[in-house]
This record gives sequence, C-alpha cells and structure tokens, in this order.
Amino acid sequence: MRFVLACLFAAATIFSAAAQADVAAGQSTYAAKGCIGCHGAGGISVVATYPSLKGQSGDYIRKSLTDFRSGARKNPVMNAMAAGLSNADIENLGDYFDSLK
Ligand code: HEC
Repeated sequence: MRFVLACLFAAATIFSAAAQADVAAGQSTYAAKGCIGCHGAGGISVVATYPSLKGQSGDYIRKSLTDFRSGARKNPVMNAMAAGLSNADIENLGDYFDSLK
C-alpha cells in the first residue's frame, strides 16, 4: 500500500513539473518570437490595434494560432508570425495563457 501511494505521489509530482515546464517554455517562446512586442508583457496590450491575450483560454490561443498558421484565419501580420511557430510552440503558448487566467 505504501508503495502504491509513493508511486501515485511520484506520478503527480512528475505531471505537475511537466505542466510547469510547458508554461515556462510558453512564456519564453512568447518573448523570443516577439509576440510580447505587440501583445504586451503578460498578454496585456498597451496598443489598441493589438488585442490583449490575457484572459483567453489556452484552447482559444491554440485554435487561433493554428488557424493563422494554416491561413484559415487571415491577418497578414499574424499569418507571418504564426508561420514561425512549431506545434510544440503552439501547445506551450496555450499552456502559458491558461496559467494567466
Ligand atoms: C506586429 C504585431 C504583432 C506581433 C509581433 C504578434 N501579433 Fe498576434 N496579433 C496582432 C494583431 C494585429 C492581431 C489581430 C488579428 C485579427 O484581427 O485577426 C493579433 C491576433 C492574435 C491572436 C488572436 C487574438 C484574438 O483575440 O482573437 C493571437 C492568439 C495572437 N495574436 C498571438 C500571437 C503570438 C503567440 C505571437 C508571437 C508568435 C504574436 N501574436 C505576435 C499583432 C501581432
């Protein structure tokens, strides 16, 4: 029984460490890819033409970026920005914005 509990605890610890790593990776992608320049620190934009991203769900962020990348959603700026994102980048960016809600 003790062994089972120890395993459960270890699994929970690993899972939350992985989730935190994704959030941290998303945050550094947000800065490294230049998103922060338009959408602002922590997703709070100070320029009216650039939407704030804070408060959006991770699912919404992932769907928007996937659609910008494929061209299903059209915006010249964001089509170009999303073209440089990998699937992992998009996953991590979604996790980052989920963590800001
Ligand atoms: C040069 C400025 C600029 C940069 C840099 C930029 N964006 Fe955007 N972003 C915009 C504009 C403008 C829109 C609104 C597009 C529209 O109306 O469809 C937008 C829209 C979005 C949306 C959809 C928001 C909504 O409310 O529907 C997401 C998500 C997003 N950007 C994420 C990113 C990410 C992630 C990066 C970095 C890889 C990034 N943006 C870089 C200007 C920028």
